[in-house]
Amino acid sequence: MNKQLRKTVIAGNWKMNKTPQETTQLIEEIKPLVANASCDIVVCVPYIDLHAALEATKGSNIYVGAENCHWEQNGAFTGEISAAMLSAIGVHYVIIGHSERRTYFGETDVTVNQRVRAALKEGLTVILCVGEYLEQREQGVTDELVAMQVKIALGGVSKEDLNNIIIAYEPVWAIGTGKTATAQQANEVCAVIRKTVAELYCENCANAITIQYGGSMNAKNADELLSQPDVDGGLIGGASLKAPDFAAIVAAASKS
Ligand code: PGA
Repeated sequence: MNKQLRKTVIAGNWKMNKTPQETTQLIEEIKPLVANASCDIVVCVPYIDLHAALEATKGSNIYVGAENCHWEQNGAFTGEISAAMLSAIGVHYVIIGHSERRTYFGETDVTVNQRVRAALKEGLTVILCVGEYLEQREQGVTDELVAMQVKIALGGVSKEDLNNIIIAYEPVWAIGTGKTATAQQANEVCAVIRKTVAELYCENCANAITIQYGGSMNAKNADELLSQPDVDGGLIGGASLKAPDFAAIVAAASKS
């Protein structure tokens, strides 16, 4: 199986930026611009915006995702939202292990794994984020580190469930900084991730899994990044908040 047979997925990560009303507006702007896309499209929004996003995307080719979920189904976890709650309202995707969660909210590889398993159990598709800090890249440990993040996050995940996993390679130094990884750097680490999946599961599993790049992907650099053999899509922060830019990335993905 080669790149053409894998799903290309462009996902917006809106982070903490839009009110429900603004969510509806932005989705209405995006919808006509991406109506003819041949890739999968997801917008991941804050919990409070999920209802508005689900409503606005009804009947369109845009899926809705959350930006995190808790690993328990319910219980005394003030302020948290479970995967069961997300799937109950019709959410399809969830981002897990974003570097901002790891850096600012104490997420570890172990809690990432717990969240991944909980999300899969509820039938959600997981966008699992991995990636190195600049110091780690400079120390030459990127490949080992990313492979380790992938291995721990996928602990206890079955081959069948792998169909509901997308892995996003997001070098932390490239997120929100305007410093994009070169297409070659992005492809190299996506290939390392694919090799890790092959070792953990099987060659076919590795060939079938969608691996995104994320980190300052924009309308200008998307073409080159998305045309790399091991890059099957993008997780887009800043540029996903501007309808024409997001649509340009979707257009680039549709021909990659
Ligand atoms: P960015 O964010 O595109 O703004 O760099 C990407 C991400 O955090 O997923």
